Amino acid sequence: MSITILGIESSCDDTSASILKDGVIYSNVTANQDVHMDYGGVVPELASRAHQQNIIPVVHQAMQKAGVTADEIDAVAFTRGPGLLGSLMVGTSFAKGFALSKNIPLIEVNHLQAHILAHFIDDLKNKYEHPDFPFLALLVSGGNSQIIVVKDHLEMEVIGETIDDAAGEAFDKCAKVMGLPYPGGPIIDRNAKSGNPLAFEFSRPKIQGLNYSFSGLKTSFLYFVRDRIKENPNFIEENMNDLCASLQYTIVDVLMNKIKKAAKETGIKQVAIAGGVSANSGLQKALTEVAVKFKWKVFIPQLGYSLDNAAMIAITGYFKFLKKEFVDQDTAPFARMTIK
Ligand code: KG4
Repeated sequence: MSITILGIESSCDDTSASILKDGVIYSNVTANQDVHMDYGGVVPELASRAHQQNIIPVVHQAMQKAGVTADEIDAVAFTRGPGLLGSLMVGTSFAKGFALSKNIPLIEVNHLQAHILAHFIDDLKNKYEHPDFPFLALLVSGGNSQIIVVKDHLEMEVIGETIDDAAGEAFDKCAKVMGLPYPGGPIIDRNAKSGNPLAFEFSRPKIQGLNYSFSGLKTSFLYFVRDRIKENPNFIEENMNDLCASLQYTIVDVLMNKIKKAAKETGIKQVAIAGGVSANSGLQKALTEVAVKFKWKVFIPQLGYSLDNAAMIAITGYFKFLKKEFVDQDTAPFARMTIK
C-alpha cells in the first residue's frame, strides 16, 4: 500500500507544509516571516497572525508541487511542540480540521525529534546516506542544545543539554549586541569567514558532565563589547569580522568539546548534527576535522532540511504511521514538549 502524508510545521516563525510519499519527500514549501526583523527577535503575537495568513497557501503549494490532491492524502502529521503556543495552535488546528474533513489519521510530532529524523529524508532529486543506529545527535537550534543517543527512529535518550541558553540564542543575542538584525546566527557565520577567530577571547563555561551553558559566554561578550566601546565608539564597526569569528570559534569549541566527551563515553562513532545552528560553517568544519581524527562518520543535514521545515515533520509522521501511532482530535499543542 502506498502511503502519502501531509506534514505541517508552525512551531516558531516559519509556516511550512510538505508532501511525503512512501518515505520520499515530494515537496517542502516554507513561508518565512520578515515581520520580526525590526524587533530583534520573534514576536509571538505577530507570528501566530502570519501563520494564519500563510498556512492555506503553503499547504496548497505543497500539494500542487507534489502533484497530489487532498483526497490522496492518507494522514496529517503536525508539530505538537515545543514552540510558541499561538504558533503551534495554528498548525495543530489546521491539521485537526484537515484530518477530520478527510476522515484520515492525525499524527503528532515532536519538533526536536523531527530535527534529528531529518537525517532519514530522501527526496525526488537525491537519495542521501542515513545514519545507522545507535548514533549521537547534536541538536543545536534557537531553543535547544542537546546531545542525544538515537537508538531507533522513535527511541531517543538525552544525555546532555543546556542548563540555560541555547547555542542559537547565544549567536542571536550576541548579534543583537553588535547591532545585527534577527536572526543573527547566519550573519555571524558570514562575517566570521573574513575574521580572525583568535582575535578576542571570551569566557567559557565550566560545566560538569555533558551539559552545556551559554549564558555566561553571552554576558562576557556583552561586557567585553561595552568596555571596548567606552574606549572607542567605533569598536564594533572596526572589528566586526574578528568579533564574529572569535565568538563563533568559542561557541563551536564549547559544542565540540562535549560531543567529543559523549563519543568517548558512549563509544559511538557516528555523529549527526541537527537544528538551525547545524548550518553553521564553523561547526560543520570542526565536526568534519574531528571526524577524520577520531574516525567518526558524520552526518550534516541538507540546508533545506536543517532549518525549521515540514519535510522533517512528514518523515517523522511516516515512521509513526508505520507504527500506527495516531492521536485523537482532542490533542492540544504542548509548548514545552521535550524528548523523553
Ligand atoms: O532550528 P531553527 O530553524 O529554529 C528553532 O530554533 O527551532 O534554528 C534557528 C536558529 C537561530 O538561532 C539562528 O540564528 C540559528 O539557528 N542559525 C545559525 C545559522 N543558521 C541558523 N546559527 C549560526 N550559524 C548559522 N549559519
